[in-house]
Amino acid sequence: MNVPLLDLERLHRALTDELGEACSRVIASGRYILGENVSALEAEVAAYCDVPYAVGVASGTDALYLSLRALDIKPGDEVITTPFTFVATVDVIIQAGGRPVFVDIEPETFNIDPALVEAAVTARTRAIIPVHLYGQAADMKAIMAIAKNHHVPVIEDNAQALGAVCGGSKTGSIGDTAALSFFPSKNLGCLGDGGMVLTRDEEFAARVRQLRAHGSARKYFFTEIGINSRLDELQAALLRVKLPYLDQWNEARRRYAGLYSTLLDGVPGLKLPVEAPGNYHVYHQFTLRLQQREAVIESLKAAGIGCAVYYPEPLHLQPAFANLGYGAGFFPTAETACREVLSLPIGPELEEQEIRYVATAIKEASAVSATGPLA
Ligand SMILES: Cc1ncc(COP(=O)(O)O)c(C=O)c1O
Repeated sequence: MNVPLLDLERLHRALTDELGEACSRVIASGRYILGENVSALEAEVAAYCDVPYAVGVASGTDALYLSLRALDIKPGDEVITTPFTFVATVDVIIQAGGRPVFVDIEPETFNIDPALVEAAVTARTRAIIPVHLYGQAADMKAIMAIAKNHHVPVIEDNAQALGAVCGGSKTGSIGDTAALSFFPSKNLGCLGDGGMVLTRDEEFAARVRQLRAHGSARKYFFTEIGINSRLDELQAALLRVKLPYLDQWNEARRRYAGLYSTLLDGVPGLKLPVEAPGNYHVYHQFTLRLQQREAVIESLKAAGIGCAVYYPEPLHLQPAFANLGYGAGFFPTAETACREVLSLPIGPELEEQEIRYVATAIKEASAVSATGPLA
C-alpha cells in the first residue's frame, strides 16, 4: 500500500463536476479579477469565521504583509512572534520595515509561550503574531490579555487553522486582524495561491483593500504605495465550491487524529500531539515527537508512506535572519522540536485502513529503533 502525505488529486476527484462548472462560469463571465466570486467568498468566509470583514488577497504571505502595513509598522518597530513557523510569518515583518523579536514555544502545543511574550514586550513593540501551528490555536486568552495590557495589536497567523476554535471563538476572530492562506495543501486550499485578511474594523479592512490595489481606493488615484495582491475570480469560485465541505473535512481530520492516538498510545520513544483544554484542533498536521526520527522516516519510506518534517530548522538559526543576532540555545524548546517532529498523513481524502497501515508501520519502526536493528 502507498499512503501519500497529501493527495489533492483524490480530494478533488470527488468534486470534479462542481469545480469544473465553477471554472466554466468564471470563464464565461469575462470578469477575472475582483468580481462577484471574490466578493461572495469574502462574505462567506467572514460569516464562517464570525467577523464582519474579509479581504481576499493573493496569498497568506500577503495577508500577513498587508496587515502589518495597515498597522503602519515603521522601521525600528518590534513584532513578537515564534521562531517555529513557516518563514512567511517572519519575512513579512522585515519586508514591512519592522524587526522580528522571537520568543520560544510551549513544548506541548508547539505554539508561542504567552509567559515569554509578556517578558519580551518593550516600548517599541508594535504587534504580536501568534501562529496557530498545525491547526491548533495558540493560547489566545493569555495573549490577548497581554496585548490589551500593553495596547499592542495582535495579528493571528491562521494560515494552518481555518475552522479551529479557541475558548468558544473561531480562530481568526480573536485578534485585531488575522491572515488566512488558501495554499493548496491547507485545510481549505485553492488550486493555486490565495489568502485573506479578516478583521472587525471597517477602516482597517478599507485600508487593506487600498493596499492590495497599489494604494488606490479610486482607480488611477493613489494615496500611498501599495502592492498588487488580489485573489482572482477563478480561485475564489473554486474556494466557494470547497468551503461548504470544510467542517466535514476538519471532522474527518479529527477522527483520524483520534484513531492515530488510540493506535499509537504507549509506543515507546514517541509523544502524541496534545489538544489544549478549550481548543478545537483541526489537525492541519498530525505531528509526533520521536527520539529516533531518521530511522522511522526511513522505515516509513520503505513502506510507501509519505511524511514530512515541519520544520527542520528554527528561523532564528537560518542564515536569512542571522543579522537579528540570535544563536543556538536562544530558544531551546523550538530547537528540540525541530529535531523531533514528524508529520504523518492526515487528509480527509484518506481512508481509515490507510491510517491503520501508517500506525502499524510507525509501531514496527519504533520497536526496531528502540531495540536497535535486528541481527
Ligand atoms: C504558518 C503559515 N504562515 C503563513 C503562510 C503563508 O501562506 P502562503 O503560502 O499562502 O503565502 C503559511 C503557508 O504557507 C503558513 O503555514
